[in-house]
Amino acid sequence: MKNIISEGKIGIFDSGLGGLVIAKAIFSAKGSPRIRESEAGGPASGGKNLSSYDYVYLGDTKWLPYGNKSAGQVYKYTSRAIKYLFDQDCQLVILACNTASALALRKIQQEYLPKFYPGKRVLGVVIPTLEEADKNHKRKIIGVIGTSATIRSHIYKKELIKIDAKAKIFEVAAPKLVPLIERNSLQLAEKTLGLYLQPLLKHNIEALILGCTHYPILEQQIKKLVGKNIKVVSQTDFLPGKLSNYLKRHPEISKKLSKHHQRTFLVTKYNREFGEVAKRLFGRKLKFEVVPF
Ligand code: DGL
Repeated sequence: MKNIISEGKIGIFDSGLGGLVIAKAIFSAKGSPRIRESEAGGPASGGKNLSSYDYVYLGDTKWLPYGNKSAGQVYKYTSRAIKYLFDQDCQLVILACNTASALALRKIQQEYLPKFYPGKRVLGVVIPTLEEADKNHKRKIIGVIGTSATIRSHIYKKELIKIDAKAKIFEVAAPKLVPLIERNSLQLAEKTLGLYLQPLLKHNIEALILGCTHYPILEQQIKKLVGKNIKVVSQTDFLPGKLSNYLKRHPEISKKLSKHHQRTFLVTKYNREFGEVAKRLFGRKLKFEVVPF
C-alpha cells in the first residue's frame, strides 16, 4: 500500500508588500545564517534548498497598514489570515510582519494554535532579528525603527533584555514609511527617513534594526544615511537561513512539506502601485489572486 504523507505548503504573511521582500529572499536563498521554535530563531546554518518548497504568500492589503491598529485588531486580522493560509494547505506560516509578530504572535502560539490547529506552526520575526543585531552580545547599543504599533508594544526592548541584559535599545516609530512604500513614493520616503533616523544617530548606535518588513525596500538609502560604521540589520539577510535551520531541527514539520517549486501570491485587495513594486522586486510580473476578506 502507498505510504500516505500529508503534503503541506509554507505560508508567508504580511499586511502588504513587505513580506514579499522576505519571500523573495527565501525563494532565492543560497546559504545564509540562523530559527527558534517560538519565532523564526536558533543557530546559524545555510539557507539552501528552500526554493523547492511550495509557498503561498498572503498580503492583507485591504486592511493595511497594521501599524496604526490596536493589538486586538491586529490579532483579529492576523488570525483570519493564518486560518486562510491553513485552509490553503499551509503547514507552517511565517509572520513576515513585525507588527503582527509583536502584537499577535504570542496569543496565536499560546491560544489559537493549541485550540484550533495543534499540529501546525506559526513563526515570527522579532527574536531572530534581535539575535542577529546583538550578534553574540557584541553590539550593546542598538536602534530600531518600526511601525507605531510595533514601537508602542516595546517588543524589541522587552525581548532584548532576555537575550542580553547589558544591551540597550532605542526605539523610533516611522509611521509615514509604510504608506509611502505601498504607494511606490520611494523618493518621498527617502526624505522622511532622515528625520526618523536623526534621534537614533545621536545615541551612537552600533546596529540599526529595520523592524518592519517594508523597510528593506529602502535599505540602500538607509545605509547611505547611517554610514558604514552602523550595521544595518535587514531581515532579508538572515531569515532564509533561520527558516532553513528550523526545518532541519523540526523534521516532524519539514517531512510534511511538499516540494514542487510552486508559488501562489494572494492579496486581499489589488492595486496598480502594489503590482509595480512587486514587479520591480521580482524582476517579472507576478500573478496575484484577490481573496475576499
Ligand atoms: N510590514 C509590516 C511590519 O513588518 C507592517 C506594515 C503595516 O501594515 O503597517 O511591521
